[in-house]
Amino acid sequence: MNTHFDVIIVGAGAAGLLCAREAGRRGRRVLVVEKADRAGRKIRISGGGKSNFTNLDVSPENYLSRNPHFCKSALARYTQWDFMALLSEHGLTWEEREHGQLFCEQGAVAIVDMLLDECARAGVELIYDCEILALEKPDRFILQTSRDDLSCDALVIATGGPSIPRMGSTDFGVQVAKRFGLKSIPFKPALVPFTFPSGFLAGLAGISLEVEVSCNGAVFREQMLITHRGLSGPVILQVSSYWNKGDAISIDLLPGMDAADWLQSEQGVRPNVRLKTLLSEKLPRRLAQALCARWFEDGPLQQFQQKRLREIGATLNAWQLVPSGTEGMRTAEVATGGVDTAELSSRTLEATKVPGLYFIGETVDVTGHLGGYNFQWAWASGWCAGQFV
Ligand code: FDA
Repeated sequence: MNTHFDVIIVGAGAAGLLCAREAGRRGRRVLVVEKADRAGRKIRISGGGKSNFTNLDVSPENYLSRNPHFCKSALARYTQWDFMALLSEHGLTWEEREHGQLFCEQGAVAIVDMLLDECARAGVELIYDCEILALEKPDRFILQTSRDDLSCDALVIATGGPSIPRMGSTDFGVQVAKRFGLKSIPFKPALVPFTFPSGFLAGLAGISLEVEVSCNGAVFREQMLITHRGLSGPVILQVSSYWNKGDAISIDLLPGMDAADWLQSEQGVRPNVRLKTLLSEKLPRRLAQALCARWFEDGPLQQFQQKRLREIGATLNAWQLVPSGTEGMRTAEVATGGVDTAELSSRTLEATKVPGLYFIGETVDVTGHLGGYNFQWAWASGWCAGQFV
């Protein structure tokens, strides 16, 4: 085969496939090189097999990045409505769940099939089971691969982030950046459960409740799940992206109410009711019992001094816990960090110091909240680069 292409895209994931489709439609000769034996592995397992492919309410505030402004341009130019229109063209439909999250009714695989169909129509070539062994740029890019040696004028790195290494995920994008002298921010597991010392939450596994959790200025109110290893559930995954080793998280177990006021007024009305009985009216019974046994004390409300009730109320509204760690890349849904946005054009995603080299998707230091935001960044950044390569 003629091994020179206008554009080579490394990674047949969310960002790479949309970029390939756009570049192909512009008449570019495009090759997508994929290490795995199939495209879109993370899309296939996303959203419990239904893929939370975007969100009705996307804004730059839903993203973490050293430069919070960087994502604005791409998100404004390729929106959630654009991707929904593409699904509609293929007869795909979606269901809206809480917080504006959209899931594909035909399943996640239908989205991969749609992207592959679009790539085929745009004349894009794909090769699987292909690894990049060496990369040079004397004038154009020369790629030595586990199959053919290839060359291209524009090279797009769309290899995602290192979360879930058993799926073959790596930090390849950051390695390429380093190879060309571009700065990166270290990857860190995000959207990941917290772990606690064994025994700390003993007997509480399986309890789920709505709480408000804050850490380093970020605040989320959603469900929390106590597990055998620590804390999980959407609210914990969200806040984990903002957490650094050693930080405390603050959990409001009774969001929307002043717990101290409530305890004091109940003491006046029902002095004989026991604290654990009262707490069980607002919290799961097992949690109320454990709080009174391990963190507070139990007894009829009349036994508690006002000062102690205020302390207990303050703890219920802001329970300070220091996780011992997270479950790490093994279960993280994404990773924060990646190629430093200071090295890239926010309009084209091209490296300013290396003409023709582009980085898109999770490889870039832009990480979304839980709720379809990571795919929307992948679609948007892929689409933008696809207009310029
Ligand atoms: P992506 O990971 O999709 O693609 C990278 C591709 O590059 C892969 O095909 C990989 O095999 C390939 N590759 C890697 N290294 C290579 C190399 N050296 N050479 C060649 N190819 C290489 N997000 C969301 O918005 N909604 C959701 O519902 C979910 N759900 C979800 C569930 C689970 C379990 C995970 C792990 C993640 C999610 N996510 C998510 C996150 C989402 O999957 C992620 O942000 C995007 O897939 C990122 O898209 P990219 O195209 O950047 O990388």
